Amino acid sequence: MRKPVVMGNWKLNGTKSTVTDLIKAFTGVANANEKVDVAICAPAIFIGMVESLATGSKLQWGSEDVDVHTSGAFTGENSPVMIKEFGSTYAIVGHSERRGYHNESNEVVAAKFKAAQDNGLVPVLCIGESEAEYDAGKTLDVCQAEIKAVIDLCGIEAFKNAIIAYEPIWAIGTGKTATPEIAQNVHAGIRAFLKTFNAEVADGVRILYGGSCNAKTAPELFAQKDIDGGLIGGASLKVADFTAIIEAATANA
Ligand code: PGA
Repeated sequence: MRKPVVMGNWKLNGTKSTVTDLIKAFTGVANANEKVDVAICAPAIFIGMVESLATGSKLQWGSEDVDVHTSGAFTGENSPVMIKEFGSTYAIVGHSERRGYHNESNEVVAAKFKAAQDNGLVPVLCIGESEAEYDAGKTLDVCQAEIKAVIDLCGIEAFKNAIIAYEPIWAIGTGKTATPEIAQNVHAGIRAFLKTFNAEVADGVRILYGGSCNAKTAPELFAQKDIDGGLIGGASLKVADFTAIIEAATANA
């Protein structure tokens, strides 16, 4: 049985005041929903604040990205060692906004996955196709190539301690959630692909859905057999919405 995960991805949002209010609320919600792993991935500058506010609760946290280096002359980066030092559990890698705006290739993302895992963080590997790729029927090809780059560098066993987030780019921040059927088909296809390498790893890995997942769409998405929770952008900045999404995951746990 895979434990569901509901993870917020705050992106470039937040102030000291909103971080305080949101984390205070979410620690309570996480404590009340123990059947679900609840986490917030925050801008690096706020991770220390999140640690101070959430330590001692069931709420977990992490970063939205990570550098491949652990230290050195890499101005502006955040190393996995630093992220871990502030009590993080997770590091998102390969979000489509990083792949798109920062030209991160599958190989760079795989290196980030490895750096995170080697330094005690659980990588959350984001994968997903563009609208044009979706229309061309290339969804699984894209997802498989993004996963294969990680398998080539780290081996299939690396997915024993990692999370995959399927996020169709056309659904992110657009209000166009993938239907439960579309999402379930892709998740099943991802799991079948992993099975060709190792069935046990494929059965165990948690695959989250992301892309305009909200209080309304979450219940049906989370009811799907191969959807193990969600990576939530916009709705993780609103207490009522994120709480409802967590409760939807609990109902399916
Ligand atoms: P969204 O973002 O929920 O705002 O669509 C999801 C994500 O990019 O992780």
